[in-house]
Amino acid sequence: MELQTYLKERKELIDREILRYLPPEPPYGKKLYEAVKYSLTVGGKRLRPILCLAGCEIVGGSFKEAITPACAIEMIHTYSLVHDDLPEMDNDTLRRGHPTTWVKFGQATAVLAGDALLNRAFEVLADWDFDCKRKVRVISEIASASGMLGMVLGQQCDLDAEGRDDVSLEELLFIHRHKTGRLITASVVAGGITGGGSGEEIEALRGYGDSIGLAFQIIDDVLDVVGSQEKLGKNVGSDLERGKTTFVKFFGIEGAKKKAEEEVKKAVEFLKIFPAQKREPLEKIARFIVEREY
Ligand code: IPE
Ligand code: IPE
Ligand code: MG
Ligand code: MG
Ligand code: MG
Repeated sequence: MELQTYLKERKELIDREILRYLPPEPPYGKKLYEAVKYSLTVGGKRLRPILCLAGCEIVGGSFKEAITPACAIEMIHTYSLVHDDLPEMDNDTLRRGHPTTWVKFGQATAVLAGDALLNRAFEVLADWDFDCKRKVRVISEIASASGMLGMVLGQQCDLDAEGRDDVSLEELLFIHRHKTGRLITASVVAGGITGGGSGEEIEALRGYGDSIGLAFQIIDDVLDVVGSQEKLGKNVGSDLERGKTTFVKFFGIEGAKKKAEEEVKKAVEFLKIFPAQKREPLEKIARFIVEREY
């Protein structure tokens, strides 16, 4: 399996499918629809939906079963980016290679577009024609990972830590695990639940997700310092400008990369309960997370 081809094919699948989950265009207030569509279609790696499909497959399901939760998760992730870029948050102007939603449509519409994406995600999940017990578990998993004890809490803690030089490693880990880790874990776990994974399999996927989720944000911190704006499609140097506490601040570039690599090793260990052949995509995705340049 060649990872770049795999990621490309899966990204193209999500790019196509996600459009089918947009509601019809309304007669008035078209600006909201335009802002939602823009945010969802300008790009993105689609890593979380790809993890969701792969989580479904590793427990023996077909990736096709998991397209709905995969697209719903990408809507929630996209909303989190739209809000994250707002002037009152990270004040960024470039995202996915294009002007941020607030730059293009104004701040009020960017707030509403985020709200719309979040609500649409749960509408799409509620309307999903699927085994009800599994569906409710998937919804609960995604809601708790995104909400006030999940990503949203992490975002508040990230803001609270801005400009402070007394942030401990413990607090930084809490921030990263919440603002980024929780939704990444929920992605692969939601896939596993959809595919009918056993309790042991779901817990292995949770361990894997927690480790790659942390590694993902550590490398995001690294790329904010050493990455190319063109490849990343977003502003670099933003963390330093905002006085964010990052893994780079604690450990330096090489030290942070080493921490991320340790997490990837842990992640791969969690997969050992699955047959070797089935593990390949999630193993390779874990490595991609630390080796990526975008
Ligand atoms: C960026 O996520 C925000 C973080 C949680 C670090 P991605 O790097 O997955 O962004 P896209 O979806 O590819 O644009
Ligand atoms: C963002 O972390 C996490 C969420 C959007 C939930 P960052 O603020 O570091 O993400 P980027 O670097 O702007 O993509
Ligand atoms: Mg942020
Ligand atoms: Mg940001
Ligand atoms: Mg960042």
